[in-house]
Amino acid sequence: MIIVIDFGSQFNQLIARRVREHQVYCRVEPAHTPIETIKKLSPSGIILSGGPASIYEKDSPQLDPAIFDLNIPILGICYGMQSMIHALGGKIQASDKREYGSAMLEIQEPSDPMFADLPSSFESWMSHGDSVTELPQGFTITASTANTPVAAIANQKRNLYALQFHPEVEHTQNGTAIIGHFLTRVCKCEKNWTMESFCQGAISQIKEKVKNEKVIMGLSGGVDSSVAATLIHRAIGSNLQCIFVDNGLLRLNEKEQLQENLGDSLSMNIEFVDARDRFLSALKGVTDPETKRKAIGNLFIEIFEEQAAKFQGAKFLGQGTLYPDIIESKSAFGGPSAVIKSHHNVGGLPEKMNLELVEPLELLFKDEVRQLGLTLGLSGELIFRQPFPGPGLAIRIMGEVTKERLDVLRRADDILQQEIKAAGLYRKLWQAFAVLIPVKSVGVMGDKRTFADCIAIRAVNSSDAMTADWAKLPHDLLGKISNRIINEVDQVNRVVFDITSKPPGTIEWE
Ligand code: XMP
Repeated sequence: MIIVIDFGSQFNQLIARRVREHQVYCRVEPAHTPIETIKKLSPSGIILSGGPASIYEKDSPQLDPAIFDLNIPILGICYGMQSMIHALGGKIQASDKREYGSAMLEIQEPSDPMFADLPSSFESWMSHGDSVTELPQGFTITASTANTPVAAIANQKRNLYALQFHPEVEHTQNGTAIIGHFLTRVCKCEKNWTMESFCQGAISQIKEKVKNEKVIMGLSGGVDSSVAATLIHRAIGSNLQCIFVDNGLLRLNEKEQLQENLGDSLSMNIEFVDARDRFLSALKGVTDPETKRKAIGNLFIEIFEEQAAKFQGAKFLGQGTLYPDIIESKSAFGGPSAVIKSHHNVGGLPEKMNLELVEPLELLFKDEVRQLGLTLGLSGELIFRQPFPGPGLAIRIMGEVTKERLDVLRRADDILQQEIKAAGLYRKLWQAFAVLIPVKSVGVMGDKRTFADCIAIRAVNSSDAMTADWAKLPHDLLGKISNRIINEVDQVNRVVFDITSKPPGTIEWE
């Protein structure tokens, strides 16, 4: 196992993922983790991540120098390198100028385990302000760039290595190989982190924890809750009781797909709750987006509680919490940015109902959850589903949500989904969906004047939803979608395409 010490870099989760791509298990721990805890975890290696701070800054995260006496191989990256140098008696020169972007790395020590077998020079990606002016004892320079003479250092005797550039980002050539060299050549890690091995381990852990008790779990139709439920179901079978609340804000056929994928093929117990009217009543007259979200979230919890109460004697609540949520909540430096939690992660419920949590995905990143889902035999259609917000179509209808408006949007959105899939773009886009703008405009169809609603097409590319680019969909595809929506959905006579990126826009309209 490898531990990544989190100094607050936006890349620390990426480092952990890269390590796992080498089939080595890796976890992220905050910089203030006591040495005793690290010792107990007994990792094969430690990676000190980058971070936004400057080492001599007041309150910058500092490393306990005792970490270097554990006799565990350590790799410092960017701020991690500077904290290593500082802790071991070297010197750093603070600078106001940041070196940011690509730089040609020249290898000085071709026999160094990190660089052996790699080309003598290649592109590396830098993002730092401070540079090293004096090396600690026992270290040599192993690579340089034109502006950064000390771009990589090593103390082979003590198994200490450090890089000023970021091997984890794609812009660094051979970055994956460099991380791999640290894992196999320096830390001598075994490659045993695979989805099959994870799956077996998780199933036995769930069995051991739950024994013959019952678990209840809310399904949303999304990837995380579906995969978590499937794993729990593998472990405890019919002692898992799932609850699916149909809030009427779903896309066409979503409930049916869930029934088919989990209910029919896996014989999972799913209680389908038809709450469509209750949600419509709660949304009556509501036009403010945040009030909509609150109304939906509160009602969901209320209904889930009512349903769960039917399954007296359940001791556990299953949830599809992912590793990034756990890291965020532990990080002292905030991490990349707040994760948007779906209202299906029913806050407060476990304590209130005296339920213990079962969160079998809490060690996994999203792409690993997808892999696990495929390993468990779930369909690609479910596993590669685009994200869908908890409040559903309600935040894609401007103004009041009514049954009629939901029907219009659902039909328009279904046409959009069909065409995006037919064009082979569904998995390439982060999200593509329709938005209903119930503002009437004039049109002409046949010989008749029309006065009807407008649909906006929203399609974005993104890797994490924090930023997004509007997708340049081909014009003929846009034309086809527009034609079909106007011809097949009576209440719509105009279709527009949203060309706003995030920032300044958001992905959803509300
Ligand atoms: P925005 O609109 O903030 O969306 O750019 C970023 C990502 O989050 C999703 N989203 C939500 N998900 N409940 C959710 O579960 C919500 O209230 C919510 N609002 C936005 C959105 O679909 C996008 O992927």
